[in-house]
Amino acid sequence: MEDVSDPPFRLLCKRYGADMVYTEFVSAGGIVHEAASSLQKLDVYDEERPVAIQIFGGDEDELRRAVPYLEPAQPDLVDINYGCPVKKVVSHDGGAGVLRNLAKMEALTAAVIEGTTRPVTVKTRLGWNDETINVLDVVRMLERLGVAAVTIHARTRAQMYTGSARWNWLRRIKDEAGLSIPLIGNGDADSPERAKAMFDETGVDGVMIGRGAIGNPWIFRETRHFLDTGEHLPGPKWDERMRTVAEHATLKCEWLGERKGVLEMRRMYGGYFKGFAGAGRLRSLVIQEPTLGGVLERLLNFSQDDLDAAAGEKIAVPVGASTTRAALAFAHLPTPTRKQPA
Ligand SMILES: Cc1cc2nc3c(=O)[nH]c(=O)nc-3n(C[C@H](O)[C@H](O)[C@H](O)COP(=O)(O)O)c2cc1C
Repeated sequence: MEDVSDPPFRLLCKRYGADMVYTEFVSAGGIVHEAASSLQKLDVYDEERPVAIQIFGGDEDELRRAVPYLEPAQPDLVDINYGCPVKKVVSHDGGAGVLRNLAKMEALTAAVIEGTTRPVTVKTRLGWNDETINVLDVVRMLERLGVAAVTIHARTRAQMYTGSARWNWLRRIKDEAGLSIPLIGNGDADSPERAKAMFDETGVDGVMIGRGAIGNPWIFRETRHFLDTGEHLPGPKWDERMRTVAEHATLKCEWLGERKGVLEMRRMYGGYFKGFAGAGRLRSLVIQEPTLGGVLERLLNFSQDDLDAAAGEKIAVPVGASTTRAALAFAHLPTPTRKQPA
């Protein structure tokens, strides 16, 4: 997920049980123009494997030229995004735009497959709109080309992120497309129960969790536990939760620089604090902090007691021992994989 699934977040998801993670989508145009922000997104770490690098673009030549740039990172998979619904992407036949032109989708996919020895997978949607749902043709064509797995976000492009994901289409793909490659289902699997329901109702081979993991990387271990035992693992205790948020913030600042990291983290707190009465108080304190040090001070000194007190509106500002960066000595990005092709 763009601006979400960066290495800090992926490493946390992995630690908390994700079987596999994907980079944010990376623009083929950005890669071939060697835009620093695009090249940075190609960094992956051994600690997060198996990991897919996801690319997008509607220009065959650019895609072809972009693929070799992925090789030093040695991604376990190269994933192509034919699902993004955003206007500026689809208007150039990137993302879901190419669902309107399957001949072009075929050419783009073939160009990527020809350019890499790595397994190539695709993520797409049901179709452009209700009148043109073509996912059955699309998945058959992709399998024929040699794609190793497909992920279907069970909405049309016209639906964007609205309405419900139409899981009945995942069932239909399993029943009618005759695929021998894995089908990964996606869309609205946002809790352990919903992930299990997707498996049970549709027969998909894997479930991809997107928004349900934002501010909630524990969803992966909870889902694994629920799938294995049918029982609910309790969520993380407050202290573990705050340590993880602090770690996320620290890694994010290491990844993006302090200013941008602090800003981007502000969009994560809603998820991390969801369901905790009194956490609104903490959130308003944390988002006022312009520095990482200030953010960490707030997070790590806000105890369960402070939370309870804030829920009863008895306290204004929590007090606690001063936290130092040393307390988070564990929070460092490892060294990315960068091997030149032999
Ligand atoms: C902020 C945000 C960014 C996203 N960026 C990407 C992306 O880069 N690549 C991609 O394949 N899907 C992206 N998606 C779509 C999700 O991967 C997923 O298909 C969609 O949210 C439905 O699944 P969910 O209900 O589990 O979230 C993004 C979604 C959100 C909310």
